[in-house]
Order: sequence, then C-alpha cells, then structure tokens
Amino acid sequence: MTKIKKIGILTAGGDCPGLNAVIRAVVKTAVNKYGIKAIGFKDGYDGLIKNTFVDLGNREVSGILTLGGTILGTSNIANPYHYAIKKGGKIIFKDVSKKAIRTYKKNKIDALVIIGGDGTLSNALKLKQSGLNVVGVPKTIDNDLSATDLTFGYDSALTTATEAIDKLHTTAQSHHRVMIVEVMGRYAGWIALAAGMAGGGDVILIPEIPYIIQKVCGKIEERNKAGKRFSIIVVAEGAKPEGGELTVSSIVESSFDRVRLGGIAYKLAEQIEKIVNMECRATILGHVQRGGTPTAFDRILATRYGVEAMNLVIQRKFGKMVALHGNKMISVPIEKAVDKLKLVPKNSGLVRSLREMGVSFGD
Ligand code: F6P
Repeated sequence: MTKIKKIGILTAGGDCPGLNAVIRAVVKTAVNKYGIKAIGFKDGYDGLIKNTFVDLGNREVSGILTLGGTILGTSNIANPYHYAIKKGGKIIFKDVSKKAIRTYKKNKIDALVIIGGDGTLSNALKLKQSGLNVVGVPKTIDNDLSATDLTFGYDSALTTATEAIDKLHTTAQSHHRVMIVEVMGRYAGWIALAAGMAGGGDVILIPEIPYIIQKVCGKIEERNKAGKRFSIIVVAEGAKPEGGELTVSSIVESSFDRVRLGGIAYKLAEQIEKIVNMECRATILGHVQRGGTPTAFDRILATRYGVEAMNLVIQRKFGKMVALHGNKMISVPIEKAVDKLKLVPKNSGLVRSLREMGVSFGD
C-alpha cells in the first residue's frame, strides 16, 4: 500500500460560508499532524481538468478561518463528465474526465478531498469509480444532503435570513404591511422553516407542504381581526401552490442543475394584495445568504469536517464522506449522500411546534 504523501483539495458547486475553514483544517492536519503536502485546485473541477492549482501550507491558510467564499475559487458549471464547451455560438457537452484523471496522476496525488454538494459529490463518486482516491465533505446552505444531519454553511445562511426577517418585522409593523421574504434552499425548505421559526414568521411556505393561497390570506385576515395589522411570510424559493408549478427564474444550460428558482415572493405579493386589501412587499434575499463570514457554529462544524476528512484519507477510507450524526463525526459512503435529497418531513418536530403555536403553512 503506498504511503500518502500528497493530497489535492477542491471546492466545487455554489460557494457557502465555511469552505475556507474546511480547507484550513484539512491543510493544517495534513501538514502538522501527518507531514503531508497539499495542493488546492482552482475553480472546482476546472482546476483538475486544466491542471491549475496552488500549493497549500500553513502560510497559505493563515487568516482564512473567518473568510466567506473559498480561496480556491469554485464553479458549478465545470463538470468533468459533462463539460460545457462553446462551439459556433452553441454549447456542446464533452466528457473530459480523462483530463482530470491525468492531472491527478501527473501531480502524483495520493488522495483528493472534494468539498461540495450533491452535484459535486456525484462527480466525486464517478472519479472514485475511475480509480481515484477521493474523500467527500458535505457543503451547501440548503442542508439537503442525505446521510448527514447538517451541512456547513446552513447555519450562516439561516442567520443571515433571520437577521433580514428581524429587520423586515419593524418596517412591516410601522407600515401595517404584509412582508414576504423569499429565501434560498432549492427544493428543500430547511432555511425557510428554521429562519421562519427564529424570525417569528406568521406564515411559512416550504416546498414539502404545497400551499393554498386562500389559506395564506385567511391567516393574514385572522391576524388583522386580532389587531395585528401586519404579517410576515417566509417563503422558500422552491415553494409551490397545491397542484401548481415551481417558480423558475432562469435556466442555466451549462450548469450541473440547469434550473434556477426564484421570484415566488413577487407572485404571492400580487395575489395576496388582491385578496386581503393590504399593501404587500416582496424581498428576495438571494445570494446574500451565501456570502460573508461563517457563524461560529459553521466554523466549528467546518473545522471538524476538515480534520475528519484528513483522518479518513490516512485511514484510506476512500469513497467515503464525512458526516455528522447527532454530535458525532462519522463516515458514510458517498453513494448514500447523493442518492436522494433530504427534505423536511411533513411531521418534523419544527413543523409540529410551529403549527401548535398557530403558524400557518398555508395548507
Ligand atoms: O444550492 C445552493 C443555492 O444557493 C440554492 O439555494 C440556490 O437555489 C442556488 O444555489 C443558486 O444557484 P446560483 O448561484 O447558480 O444562482
């Protein structure tokens, strides 16, 4: 069995707070505990395909714990098995995985730590099947990866969303308006659910519980009758009406996941204004939820993931992803993490508690 002497690291897919904390932890553990060299590929799989990388040592990761984004850069377009190339004004897709494998071999890398969400980890799995030694780290603000209780980045996004709801509360109250705040999360309602709870939303709309517009308005009217002349609606970008469709903002042909959601808050504002005769305003938080300094919780989680990922490399547990179960760091097969999305169970503890307090899910 060859000794691990050198590892590669890459961050792919959408960025999120805490990526740098993982990079730092992997590098520090590699260098300080095991005396192993590390390099970081630039811009996700693009760096592996094009052989562009930077050396990573203690100096390079100094001071990055608190930084949002990723010092390595990322891409949610560069997919080694479905690489977008522009030809004659058209986009065509090519399998360039052989180039990625060549880079790995050329640089004499013994293992690759791949930090990403489901799209990134699906490709990590394919690279493993092609013979590369890979270990995965689960990242996404959406918290929708199965096989781990929490992904890092989620707490930071949730905190940003909660702060925004707090601010919208005071202006909603002053103007006696309905404020609709749209949060990210793709097809899962984790951010909306938790930010709705932390921010005291009156109505929370999530993809897992399709809504009926009359029920949403019924809650606003019930509050009006009780003298509460404002309401806060927290809506996930992937929420949809019963029997209705998702609100798609754009299609990004070259991306892992072509569909971009967004805009449901505007639709709701228009519909609600007609029914309840109150002023409605929509706020879409968008990428602000992905940026900025990670919370203390995410720094700790990301650091634990990074250290554990490096330990998995040394234990040669390739094809595994680090995961949080309860308060324990464990490893799971990457297959398990990507086989299905982790959605909010309709009868989850948070949903039940919110319903008991009178919060409406519009159903
Ligand atoms: O998966 C993370 C996420 O931020 C989703 O919540 C959102 O739907 C999507 O990425 C946005 O993607 P992009 O940055 O490509 O617009």
